[in-house]
Amino acid sequence: MKALVSLLILIAIAAAAKSEEEWWSSMSLYQIYPRSFKDSNGDGVGDLKGIIDNLEHLVDSKVTAFWISPIYPSPGVDMGYDISNFIDIDPLFGTLNDFRSLLEKAHRMGLKVLMDFVPNHSSDQHEWFQKSIKNIPPYNNYYIWANGTVKADGTRAPPTNWVSVFGGPAWTWNDERQAYYLHQFAPQQPDLNYRYEPLKDEMKNVYRFWLDRGVDGFRVDAVNHVFETESLQDEPLSGNTNDPNNYGYLNHIYTKDQPECYELIQEWRKLLDEYKANGGEERVMILEAYTDINLTMKYYESGGSFPFNFGFIQRLNANSSPADVKVVIDEWMTRMPEGHIANWVIGNHDQKRVASRYGAERAQGITALLLLLPGVLITYNGDEIGMPNNYVTWEEGKDPQGCNAGRDGFEAASRDPFRTPFLWDDTTSAGFSTNLNTWLPVNPDYKTLNLKVQKEAEDSHFKFYQALAELRSWPTAQKGDLQTYVISDDILAISRILEDHRSIYFVLNFGDQIRVEDLTQKIVNVPEELIIYRASVNSGLPNGSTINPKNAQIPARGAVVYVAPDMSKRFEVKLL
Ligand code: NOJ
Repeated sequence: MKALVSLLILIAIAAAAKSEEEWWSSMSLYQIYPRSFKDSNGDGVGDLKGIIDNLEHLVDSKVTAFWISPIYPSPGVDMGYDISNFIDIDPLFGTLNDFRSLLEKAHRMGLKVLMDFVPNHSSDQHEWFQKSIKNIPPYNNYYIWANGTVKADGTRAPPTNWVSVFGGPAWTWNDERQAYYLHQFAPQQPDLNYRYEPLKDEMKNVYRFWLDRGVDGFRVDAVNHVFETESLQDEPLSGNTNDPNNYGYLNHIYTKDQPECYELIQEWRKLLDEYKANGGEERVMILEAYTDINLTMKYYESGGSFPFNFGFIQRLNANSSPADVKVVIDEWMTRMPEGHIANWVIGNHDQKRVASRYGAERAQGITALLLLLPGVLITYNGDEIGMPNNYVTWEEGKDPQGCNAGRDGFEAASRDPFRTPFLWDDTTSAGFSTNLNTWLPVNPDYKTLNLKVQKEAEDSHFKFYQALAELRSWPTAQKGDLQTYVISDDILAISRILEDHRSIYFVLNFGDQIRVEDLTQKIVNVPEELIIYRASVNSGLPNGSTINPKNAQIPARGAVVYVAPDMSKRFEVKLL
């Protein structure tokens, strides 16, 4: 028995060591939203060629891998998340050949490529669904159909009270099949039936299709929605809203995070590992699951590489205090199961942009903080130049979540403002397209707010991002011990310390006043002198200057990154 326990411990240690050594364990991952990255053919929509021509920007941003939101054939109801063919490229974006060129060029440049895998649903235009409507085997079982009930007055009602994420019932009646089908998102996104083995196999073949083409992994969409309870029970009311059409109306105990979700991920991991056998590299599987911290942490152990950490999106904003931030960081680091890799998401296409969540100045500090935390960094395209949300009118709106909310609810619900075109330069449509009509409007501030201007400026959001991305590659940032400190009501600090390497210190001022702090009294192991590696834009603090940490000046709403001056001074251990 003892021997068995020791063996299990050894296996656990080996597994723990394994994650830390993988190519992705400290990657800088960039999300490309293809519709808005770069349009190469002037139709006003971004495309694969546009990405191919601009991969240099990723290298410039010290990015090491990227994931692309869906580029598969799609009617575009949910901007590509309604897929009508999982194993092809939508002509809007290009062809499979273009995809091959993208993969080849990215790999030549040392960039890993991840696809967006959308398991929960297809488009209602997918051939499978069309055949399912007609009850043709085996497609008749590919989706979740139910009869519902007939009320005393003869009217029909769906089988459960379930509400869809985009609002309204999660069941839609289909006249041809004479049954309801389930859709956790839009009615045009019918849920796939993972309790039916042939469907499970079919989706495994989708993974294989892209793995055979050489992709390095996947971001897996809405993975915690994939299963619902088999017994089709009503969900309890949450008490948060009286609107039965609002997703927040119910506690989603039967439609989210079901135990089968975790089991399915394990099966996918086995499949991905087949591609690692024979000397191949590990394929990464990143799980998108908006859920509580306990259920999130369980996804770490399901065989996924990691679940996205949305803490800086969901739990913090411009009004958060240093103590709130410390809790979010420490909680992830301490709750994460042993041997796994942390990750920090700056933004994505579903959430307000970081510059709008925190304000342009604080967003720099928050971004710098995330760049300096251990593990994987995830940057949404445009956040590296501090793009804010853009105003999108009801008439211009495309997002079903916004459009379903009606004219009055559109502004609050729509994700369009976070998805507008990348601001490359000050030419037509910000250099995104030669077309003045772009699929969503270009931010009107593009003449002054764009990548080119920021690259040419001495100091800019991009230069700050770039400098810290460089610092991220230091062994201290990759492997150093992390300590977090609330050093006053306004100031958060972290240190990264690694034996035999220069230490890194970071301070972030949430307040509106400049502060002067004695860092030696507040942070453990601060040497007698520090070098300002980089301070946030307009701080007036000269980069590269040496300071006395007893009188460290921290700009209002700004951040400063210091490094220890040299090897000899870094181990003056002072205990507080
Ligand atoms: C999550 C995606 O990020 C979001 O954009 C999409 O609407 C839903 N999943 C449905 O696929």
